[in-house]
Amino acid sequence: MGKVQFGSRMGLIAATVGSAVGLGNVWRFPAEAQAGGGAAFVLIYIACIFLFGIPVMLTEFALGRGTRCNAVDAFPAATPAHRGWRRVGLLGVASAYIILSFYLVVAGWTLSYLWESITGALYAPVPGEAPDLLFAERMADQTQGAVWPVAMTWLILAGNAGVLILGVQKGIERISNLLMPLLVLLLLIFCCVSLSLPGAADGLAFFLKPDFSRITWGTVIDALGQAFFSLSLGMGALITYSSYFPDKTKLPSTAVTVSLLDLMVALLMGLIIFPAVMTFGLTDHGLAGQTLVFVTMPEIFARMGGAQFWSVLFFTLLLVAAFTSTISLGEVAVAWVQERWQLTRRRAVLCTLAPLLPLSAAVSLSLGEWDTTPALGINLFSLFDNLSTNVMLPLGALLTCVYIGWVAPRRFFAAQMSHPALTRVLYPLVRYAAPLLILVIMTAGLLP
Ligand code: PHE
Repeated sequence: MGKVQFGSRMGLIAATVGSAVGLGNVWRFPAEAQAGGGAAFVLIYIACIFLFGIPVMLTEFALGRGTRCNAVDAFPAATPAHRGWRRVGLLGVASAYIILSFYLVVAGWTLSYLWESITGALYAPVPGEAPDLLFAERMADQTQGAVWPVAMTWLILAGNAGVLILGVQKGIERISNLLMPLLVLLLLIFCCVSLSLPGAADGLAFFLKPDFSRITWGTVIDALGQAFFSLSLGMGALITYSSYFPDKTKLPSTAVTVSLLDLMVALLMGLIIFPAVMTFGLTDHGLAGQTLVFVTMPEIFARMGGAQFWSVLFFTLLLVAAFTSTISLGEVAVAWVQERWQLTRRRAVLCTLAPLLPLSAAVSLSLGEWDTTPALGINLFSLFDNLSTNVMLPLGALLTCVYIGWVAPRRFFAAQMSHPALTRVLYPLVRYAAPLLILVIMTAGLLP
């Protein structure tokens, strides 16, 4: 069929790293590492990446490149006798859609913060408002509004449509080649600034001081879950991207490169955030997730001087990280819809993304106007977040490993690895260790 392919190795790495590096690295990793025993957590996290992340990534790469199909059709294409396994691909498409519906909302907040950093509105004093409450209130206003956050979410969606319509080489690859170097540059700038702050040493100690007493079974499970989300596993994104890898691409070295770059960005984020938090004495402010990024960081910039400048750079960094991840999420469904119904690229993108207009708006509004908590016991945003991260992604990865390890013949996986010795090491991991470990994460995630 002569399926489209990425044009260069640099491009395919940039696109895959673009998918992996996202909000998971920027706001999940630093907080989890600090809470989970610093360097002790980081060591376990690194072990998880090698023992479990890379093998699962390789099963997805093998499926994608080995069949050159979208995330759904890759399963029946690998073993036509087991057509029912395409449901695993459908689960992946559903996960991508659900993640996209809240990820777009957060990317929308980022865009809004970037805009307000550029105009200076974020740092304009409000008469009668205590300065240390200012950013918390601003965040509440930003996220709970009815019109502005939805408009920002839709703008990101429109950006996604624009890139996806341009296709794999002219859209995804080109934007990744452009944005990933920018991301690295911004990270390095922030690293230099942060490490030259007076509280750098204390901040690093706070972030990385190994505290093995904090390591419990729960920490190990958190590290596994984090590795998982951060490497974009379990929902077909990497099956879809690897179906565009040329035959000569060496899958094992690609998986290692992508995973190490993703790890590096996560660690750099820790090196950036904690020295700053320490220098300005904000360790008792929220260090987790949304609060860290939208309250604590602006507070730091306000105290640092040059607030607007740093803020523009920071929210650009965050937006770049989030945007390239949303592209990969969108491509999972677009690739399937396009091939399944033989549509033109433009039509496939528009049909696939259109339902996200109401869906992402509903998710955004669930934090304010349309709070679903009274009816469902949880707002739609948290429901989708928990459902996808704790249930759908691990389930998708588990079934993919079971499929490659038990249903497809061993030679299918072996043919995609560059060396027989690698198959001997990796195959048992894919067949036994990875599914078992994922089962553990899932059970733990489901327990109250
Ligand atoms: N890996 C992305 C992050 O770290 C999230 C993501 C998950 C993207 C699954 C695509 C698929 O933020």
